[in-house]
Amino acid sequence: MKVAIFASGNGSNFEAIMQAVAAKELEMEVVLLFSDQRESYVLNRAKKYQIPTAAFSPKEFDSRQAYEQAVLDVLQENQVDWIVLAGYMRIIGKKLLKAYPNRIINIHPSLLPAFPGLHGIKDAFEAGVSQTGVTIHFVDAGVDTGPIIAQGKVSVHSDDTLESLEERIHKKEHELYPKVLQQIIGKGNLDFKIKENRNLS
Ligand code: GAR
Repeated sequence: MKVAIFASGNGSNFEAIMQAVAAKELEMEVVLLFSDQRESYVLNRAKKYQIPTAAFSPKEFDSRQAYEQAVLDVLQENQVDWIVLAGYMRIIGKKLLKAYPNRIINIHPSLLPAFPGLHGIKDAFEAGVSQTGVTIHFVDAGVDTGPIIAQGKVSVHSDDTLESLEERIHKKEHELYPKVLQQIIGKGNLDFKIKENRNLS
């Protein structure tokens, strides 16, 4: 299966995915890294793995539809079958959802439906919860909504700082995402999506 990874920033999840692919623990072909930020660090990581990149921002287009059409054109040029969001901080619009029905997967750093949005870790930390975690889900038109595929729990310790919690959550993401992608994309186990809140931790 040919996969495009979408990322906006650092790209530590991209790196975890690429390491799993290199170790043959994740059987999929990453044919493209797309970023909506021309200067994002993830683009450097992609170069390291010799993954073709495309990077442009919606600001460069007259409308969101025109932006999504440009994204779609790049995906089709590369014959992409699946889209994997790894820190892509934008809502996916109708055009891409229609072109890739049930073929877009996202990771989010909270136990959804709690704490969706841009600051899942900080929002959970500030709310004082004793447990948070990560969620992997199929993407629909909402913000961090869509059928849940898997969740991994992370306890909040009494002496945690936001940084120490972030570190453990990212570690959990890096373990969980390649495993779940292997089930769904690698093994083609599409039923995996039906079993909600499957806890792999
Ligand atoms: C990850 O924690 C990911 O779950 C989150 O962005 C971070 C990207 O880190 N995504 C969201 O919050 C989506 N709403 P990375 O660039 O180091 O992979």
